[in-house]
Amino acid sequence: MVLVARRNDRLAALQSELKVINPKLELFSRPLDLRDKDELERFCDWLDESDLAIDVLINNAGLGDHGPFVDCEWERVNSMLQINVYALTYLTFRVLPKMRKARCGAILNVSSIASLLPLPNSAVYAATKAYVTSF
Ligand SMILES: NC(=O)c1ccc[n+]([C@@H]2O[C@H](COP(=O)([O-])OP(=O)(O)OC[C@H]3O[C@@H](n4cnc5c(N)ncnc54)[C@H](OP(=O)(O)O)[C@@H]3O)[C@@H](O)[C@H]2O)c1
Repeated sequence: MVLVARRNDRLAALQSELKVINPKLELFSRPLDLRDKDELERFCDWLDESDLAIDVLINNAGLGDHGPFVDCEWERVNSMLQINVYALTYLTFRVLPKMRKARCGAILNVSSIASLLPLPNSAVYAATKAYVTSF
């Protein structure tokens, strides 16, 4: 199991928790900011170069916002696009060929009920989740 998030201390805590549940579990923590395309690329290269057979990919990381679009901070909007759309799509793109070759695998892209209709005060979040649902 490969755990990905930015905060290493929380990854380490989760890793310990999972080890208690199943001591045989082989675990890897990879602190990674999914907004950073170079970091994401390096992570995917590491996955490719490792002997790990990825049978399940869960794209769970997601970011929301609240407030009128006109008042949004661009940094936050950009982060939503990078995490909710770009990273999710890129990880799927990089992992899928190995799954197809192995003729085994599953991908869970976590969307939201917000994907089902335009959402005032969460315009970009709802739009990114509409993308996830459609994808
Ligand atoms: N909560 C809800 O009511 C709700 C409803 C519908 C759908 N969802 C969807 O469910 C998913 C999880 O939501 P949640 O509420 O559990 O979110 P959350 O509590 O904010 O957790 C988000 C997770 O993603 C990681 N993450 C955030 N930004 C990241 C980044 N730049 N790079 C790498 N990892 C990052 C976080 O760890 P770090 O901060 O350490 O990086 C954390 O582990 C999301 O896709 C969300 O849109 C949530």
